Amino acid sequence: MDVKAIRGMSDILPGDVPKWRFVEETVRKVFGLYGFVELRTPVLERTELFLRGIGNETDVVEKQMYTFTDKSGSSLSLRPEATASVLRAVIEHGLLSEDPIRKIFSMGPMFRYERPQKGRYRQFHQINAERLGEGGPFSDAETLQMAYALASALGLKGLAMEVNSLGCETCREEFKKALQAYLSKQADRLCADCARRMATNPLRVLDCKVVSCKQAAEGAPVIEDYLCEECRDHYDQVLSYLKSFGVPYAKNPSLVRGLDYYTRTTFEITAKGLGSQNAIAGGGRYDNLVKVLGGPDAPGIGFAFGVERVILLLEERDAREEGCFVVAQGDERVKTAAVGLLSELRSAGIPAQAVPEKSFKAQMRRAGKSGYPFCAIIGQDELEKSLVTVKDLETSSQVQVPHTEAREKIRTLLKDRKGESR
Ligand code: HAM
Repeated sequence: MDVKAIRGMSDILPGDVPKWRFVEETVRKVFGLYGFVELRTPVLERTELFLRGIGNETDVVEKQMYTFTDKSGSSLSLRPEATASVLRAVIEHGLLSEDPIRKIFSMGPMFRYERPQKGRYRQFHQINAERLGEGGPFSDAETLQMAYALASALGLKGLAMEVNSLGCETCREEFKKALQAYLSKQADRLCADCARRMATNPLRVLDCKVVSCKQAAEGAPVIEDYLCEECRDHYDQVLSYLKSFGVPYAKNPSLVRGLDYYTRTTFEITAKGLGSQNAIAGGGRYDNLVKVLGGPDAPGIGFAFGVERVILLLEERDAREEGCFVVAQGDERVKTAAVGLLSELRSAGIPAQAVPEKSFKAQMRRAGKSGYPFCAIIGQDELEKSLVTVKDLETSSQVQVPHTEAREKIRTLLKDRKGESR
């Protein structure tokens, strides 16, 4: 068959799954330390949710959404990110009226029609965290610290955290005016998108990847000089808490992020070794978004990691399975005993496989391919003496044990081996 997977959408093959599991288990462990609980939303939402949530004039909404009309005529979109969906679910189920503070994480596939390259895909996965109901600077710093703690727990090296403040509605208006005044003098250098967005959403120009736009933005005013007193105090306190937490960070006054919902603190974590797509995580505060989506006036802050980018940085992980291959060498009675052992092992929670109808040689070959460290052999001799030969497939050393004790022996061997590999 020559039907292939869609460009930019990858299969995750068994050899890579141990890395994915490691990431997912580490997320649950680290986020659990901070009181985050998991929430899962559908991958499809009404398109309107993203238009309202992310902003009409962002690349994500203008160019990257997978949008279609379903059979009833509704416009639906595959989620390009998780924040809008999580907030929709929180509002829909009244979670903030049950408890005004919520800490929620999610994991799953997101979809953006972007030009695929290393670290950039059309289906990619995010680990997403949202913290709702707390507006103080401590919650910003702790959220950023949690993101950094996850990256560290994953063993990622060469990390850099960049932080900025985008101010609130009031001070950003002042900044926008100054930015527009500056950009209007650079208009001939701006790409068509930026020329159009400049009047309504000039901050987007600062996030544009087109070289001439980047050059045009080089001498632009910086938001930090326009922060109102409250936003400045908030930002200073966030930075001071980050110092108390011992999180290394650098201020980046031109960090604006690609989505429109952010207010005050924004941040990104980059890692070395990824080329141009080096942001492994990004996020920030969004104090108006819950309300914009029809919920209570609750502040929020969150972030998302790109799992594929994290996976690219991880060392190979041991893909070997723990278990025992059962081999039968002899007549029907031997096979019956081997099938019996196979069931006993599984009932005891020990993974086991067998191909008793194949030749002894072929069975041993399968045992080697299984990735299990041990095999249990029952031959004519073993059957007569009610024994089982347990063979270490790495060292080829073997022991004989009474059939009745085989299960416990194998369990102990597997346990000892696990202890050693730690
Ligand atoms: P974002 O910066 O658009 O933020 O995406 C977060 C992370 O997802 C990026 O840093 C990157 O690692 C990964 N990512 C994004 N697009 C792709 C892609 N096409 N291929 C592979 N990885 C990708 C958000 O999505 C916000 N919702 C984060 C957030 C949560 N802000 C507040 N709460």
